[in-house]
Amino acid sequence: MQKISLAKNLSFSRIIHGLWRLDEWKQPKEETLQLIQFCLDNGITTFDHADIYGSYTCEKLFGDALSLQPSLRSHMQLVTKCGIILPSAQRPQNATHHYNTSKEHILFSVEQSLKNFRTDYIDLLLIHRPDPFMDPAEVAEAFQELHSAGKVLHFGVSNFKQDHFEMLASYVKQPLVTNQLELSAYQLENFQDGTLQLCMKHRIAPMAWSPLSGGDIFASNEEKAVRLRHTLTKVQEEIGANGMDEVLYAWLLVHPANIMPIVGSGKRQRIQAAIRATELSLTRDQWFAILHASMGHDVP
Ligand SMILES: NC(=O)c1ccc[n+]([C@@H]2O[C@H](COP(=O)([O-])OP(=O)(O)OC[C@H]3O[C@@H](n4cnc5c(N)ncnc54)[C@H](OP(=O)(O)O)[C@@H]3O)[C@@H](O)[C@H]2O)c1
Repeated sequence: MQKISLAKNLSFSRIIHGLWRLDEWKQPKEETLQLIQFCLDNGITTFDHADIYGSYTCEKLFGDALSLQPSLRSHMQLVTKCGIILPSAQRPQNATHHYNTSKEHILFSVEQSLKNFRTDYIDLLLIHRPDPFMDPAEVAEAFQELHSAGKVLHFGVSNFKQDHFEMLASYVKQPLVTNQLELSAYQLENFQDGTLQLCMKHRIAPMAWSPLSGGDIFASNEEKAVRLRHTLTKVQEEIGANGMDEVLYAWLLVHPANIMPIVGSGKRQRIQAAIRATELSLTRDQWFAILHASMGHDVP
């Protein structure tokens, strides 16, 4: 498995595993441990979380599994996020859905994450979404405090457009090592509005969330999905891939931006599809055929 270097002392596996849906899998911790072990055995060493996943439950489900074999911690990179506040039974104090990137909240959220994972450090902390009420000086103070205490080793953002990214980067002392973005052949916004190019400008490799559009591409009867499935099937046959999912991953992986797709499924065969895609190549013609199918028209 290829490694992507994000910073000195921080490398991610090219394919990342995402735990947003972990609570939906309703599996005992022994099975979650087996899943973690499966990923590690196959070279997937980076695991993506957020404080809010599973309504504030997924980090703990993962940490409970990890506690069965704590030695695995040193073989993985744990990514988590903070900054979104969700009303939840787990957090009765959260009255409304909003963002909070205050120093107090960032420090609080990291303490919870450390407790949930039963670890004493997070490899990478992301600010989950750009907060219109953000005081970047406070974020900088929080990052500094967490970094000095060794609780968070690296920092980044998610869903940040250029203005928010460059504004925060100008305040924080630590480099923003990635921007986690929605990137897929189905959702082209970040390809088209300059956000992917922002990452390339700053020489940072983006993490791609919902690389299969959360499964919509396979299920939707919208014209765009139907068009895409037709082209993906054609390309799949041309390159000898096993499924449309492999082609969708390959479409991201061959892009020069060093995109790191986050697999959202807990099923072994679907994780293996992402791994196999790292061996595939697409011609420029095939890449554009998929782009055209998604846009519904040719490039100008
Ligand atoms: N930063 C952010 O704002 C943000 C937002 C969303 C997600 N994320 C991160 O990104 C990760 C991935 O997101 P995601 O779960 O939406 O990724 P995804 O891989 O695009 O979607 C996963 C969904 O697609 C289904 N699926 C996968 N392969 C399929 C196939 N061949 N046929 C039919 N359905 C298929 C899965 O079903 P099965 O479970 O049945 O396989 C699952 O429901 C998350 O875990 C999280 O870590 C970040």
